[in-house]
Amino acid sequence: MNLAIIGTGYVGLTTGTCFAEVGHRVVCVDNNAEKVQMLLEGRMPLYEPDLEYMIRSNVDAGRLKFTTNLESAVEECEIIFIAVPTPPHADGSVDLSYIEGVSHEIADALKPGLGYRVVVDKSTVPVSTGGKVYQVIERYAPLGVDVDVVSNPEFLREGSAVHDLMNPDRVVIGSDSQRAMDMMKRVYQPFNAPIVEVDLASAELIKHAANSFLALKISYINAVSAVCEKAGADVELVARGIGMDRRISSHFLNAGLGYGGSCFPKDVKGFINVSEQLGAPMEILKEVERVNAAQLERFLGRIRKKLWVLRNKKIAVWGMAFKKNTDDVRESVAIKLIKRLREEGACVSAYDPKASETGARALAGYDVTICDDMYECARGAEVLVVATEWKQFATANLVKVRELMRLPIMFDGRNIMHAENAVHAGFEYHSVGRKTLGRTNLRG
Ligand code: UGA
Repeated sequence: MNLAIIGTGYVGLTTGTCFAEVGHRVVCVDNNAEKVQMLLEGRMPLYEPDLEYMIRSNVDAGRLKFTTNLESAVEECEIIFIAVPTPPHADGSVDLSYIEGVSHEIADALKPGLGYRVVVDKSTVPVSTGGKVYQVIERYAPLGVDVDVVSNPEFLREGSAVHDLMNPDRVVIGSDSQRAMDMMKRVYQPFNAPIVEVDLASAELIKHAANSFLALKISYINAVSAVCEKAGADVELVARGIGMDRRISSHFLNAGLGYGGSCFPKDVKGFINVSEQLGAPMEILKEVERVNAAQLERFLGRIRKKLWVLRNKKIAVWGMAFKKNTDDVRESVAIKLIKRLREEGACVSAYDPKASETGARALAGYDVTICDDMYECARGAEVLVVATEWKQFATANLVKVRELMRLPIMFDGRNIMHAENAVHAGFEYHSVGRKTLGRTNLRG
């Protein structure tokens, strides 16, 4: 099928590429000419595992194109996916101006002779946005165009986007038109995944409800981690014990510094806002946010307690990305932590395998030393903080790290380090929701 994807961010670019991979002809459209030029030259505007190779092979096979020309994409393609950002406003409501703008442009590009077109919303939007997209198209498109609007929320995770797209747990398609539904089912037929056919409003709600539930799960285990710290219990063992109940499942029960990224913080806020607007407030989600913020504060409090005063202490931070396998630092808890340490006068060096450029931009003005090497980052440090769950941190040579540091104190904010190895290497090992291990009477 001929598919257009408007927006080449993490969602649009990976979705378009995976559609091409299964044999569709895909045109990715972006109004950022510089980004389109990069893609045309085979350069990547973002880091996502396996994506670069997949883009190249599909471009070479003639199935994947990039352009700034939305009008020609609408002419060529029977299905047009909208995958543009839906950032939060200051009050937590969702900024839908990009969605509105693109809907308007699609309306202008539609011509009566083109034939049937399906406009699909892939961006995360509040319930009832699809109806508004349809209104915009109806209002601005010429008379006689034949179009339906569908909601098809995306569930990919950054860092494993290609895998998630190629192996979806389910595909949600929301439409009030059988004709549009049938076309969408053809798009997803090669993926061999269960398809959840629902009305437009339910599809939109599924996305907000799914992300909020996952955030709730993370806040739940983080709240349990605070109890574990007081009770001398181990949150990892508790998570394992409860996760083996299939009704609960072990996924998204990793305690840590809290959730970040461009989705959970925004979508929890967005769902709170929408539910309030509708007169059915999701009060439970306010507690999810509160726990998430408290998690970082408690962790900072523990570092402060250990060092007494943070001013002029040298702290090395491993990780700036909001999670492993991505260069994305949007709403990254690691970045928030670094900023807080700097505000309290600590000297901070930071390292991330992929997010050093994006991290440096996010930390501009904070006077943080960005290192190219994780061992150099640790040199002379009084505390090493692990803030992102990159695998290479867990497999680091801890004896070497300890030798480079001024004091052997480690705060693992993601519970990814091997505790016994850390202790064996001579560290005093602090983690989340678990007892502190190793030396406790440090002099130095
Ligand atoms: C999330 C959802 O998982 C996707 O299904 C959804 O499509 C996406 O948002 C979106 O709406 O676009 P993403 O934000 O890319 O995906 O990353 P996650 O893997 O969900 O991680 C989010 C945050 O939660 C990260 O900061 C991560 O470190 C944290 N997390 C995750 C935990 O603290 N504990 C866990 O057990 C899992």
